[in-house]
Amino acid sequence: MMKNNINYTFSQNKQNDSWDKMEMSRLPYHVAIIMDGNGRWAQERGLPRARGHRAGMESLRSAVELCLEIGIKILTVYAFSTENWKRPQEEISILMGLLYEYIQKELDELHKEQVKVRTLGRISELPAPAVYEIKRAQELTSKNKKLILNIALNYGGRTEIVDAARRIAQLAVQGKILPEEIDEELFQKHLYTGDLPDPDLLIRPAGELRISNYLLWQIAYTEFYSTSTYWPDFRKEEFIKALLSYQGRQRRFGGLK
Ligand code: IPE
Ligand code: IPE
Ligand code: MG
Repeated sequence: MMKNNINYTFSQNKQNDSWDKMEMSRLPYHVAIIMDGNGRWAQERGLPRARGHRAGMESLRSAVELCLEIGIKILTVYAFSTENWKRPQEEISILMGLLYEYIQKELDELHKEQVKVRTLGRISELPAPAVYEIKRAQELTSKNKKLILNIALNYGGRTEIVDAARRIAQLAVQGKILPEEIDEELFQKHLYTGDLPDPDLLIRPAGELRISNYLLWQIAYTEFYSTSTYWPDFRKEEFIKALLSYQGRQRRFGGLK
């Protein structure tokens, strides 16, 4: 496999106005992205869908770079849903292969840049080589502090809630907790994201106005941003547009201004 030598250093890229408009003190702490539109991006160019997925990998690299550069602390990306198993076997294999390749290519650089790689989803159901690479990435980067890169893989929001309910039920059966002790805080701790704050901003490229089973519990008060730009074209400029939109919002969490 080719080694990737691209450096995650980018200050020289701050070339235009939109950067200047960003208020660095009001950045979202946690950004979630539904990486969608790879297939359409490829089809519009007369290319196989796989080419779109590959181009999407570059966008992930650029999103990670931007987070590192401006100081976003958590990036949670939707890479494969529990429903994506419905796709043709060939496409599933391509996606799993790309996941493996992404870790192989990027891990050293991610580690050097102090990125902690984590996953959310039923990882053990993925093909063995992918599981192996994921474990390797998690172990190597477990102490890194600059950015948490959370990759949602074989992830479904409903599955996550069911998994949490199962764990809590087990604790109750073992007599370790009482049913009346189950509240939102305790429930939240048993989600895959149990130790992380909820996303502040959820970005969905490719124009669909739906959640597609992503982070159902966590997005209760997340700001939503949709753009028609396909994920392979969603690079730093697009990301900054989303951040500027976020900075124009007034979050009330049900209260008053
Ligand atoms: C997102 O792109 C990648 C995954 C869902 C794994 P799509 O493959 O969904 O692209 P579209 O939506 O068909 O364009
Ligand atoms: C959501 O995109 C899942 C990922 C991006 C991994 P989909 O393409 O699977 O969503 P739908 O089918 O359009 O809702
Ligand atoms: Mg899609």
